[in-house]
Amino acid sequence: MKNIVLIGFMGVGKGSIAREVSLNSDYMTVDTDDIIESMQNRKIKKIFETDGEQYFRTLEKDISIWLQKSVKNTLISTGGGFYKVKNLKKIGTIVLLDSPFDSIIQRIKEHPNAENKLKKRPLLADLEKAKELYDLRRPEYLALADIVIDVTDKTALECSKELLKKVKKND
Ligand code: S3P
Repeated sequence: MKNIVLIGFMGVGKGSIAREVSLNSDYMTVDTDDIIESMQNRKIKKIFETDGEQYFRTLEKDISIWLQKSVKNTLISTGGGFYKVKNLKKIGTIVLLDSPFDSIIQRIKEHPNAENKLKKRPLLADLEKAKELYDLRRPEYLALADIVIDVTDKTALECSKELLKKVKKND
């Protein structure tokens, strides 16, 4: 089993879909944001506030090297900007979770814990800027992806089934 690397914009559902895949397959799952928070023993928001985004990106780069060297047979869920690491393709099969910007924001707002979902993501604080970031990133996500899953109006379970089917075909 090759690693699967889940990429996509903030709030698109990488975490929930990774959990579903893990429940319904032999893949164990890790999340790059969770690894950073546990390594640093502080929240991403705090890291951005204290040390800035560039520092956060160097942590993502360190993790990308570790993932390539040491992680096998795993579903890796990544932060929305992780795709920029140079060795992304060497880590595993790249699966893009895709959805229009407005659907992503609506999905976050409908979540029971919406306030926290928005608060913990510094790059979602200004929705106009976030839309610009989305427009800039989407073609880059598409260019990197081996597999694209349109997650709009689908449950995490539906997406996880589609993902496993497409990965099997791709391998
Ligand atoms: C970021 C996305 C976040 C987190 C950080 C930066 C980004 O992860 O890594 O706030 O640059 O898009 P999620 O995609 O899980 O929200």
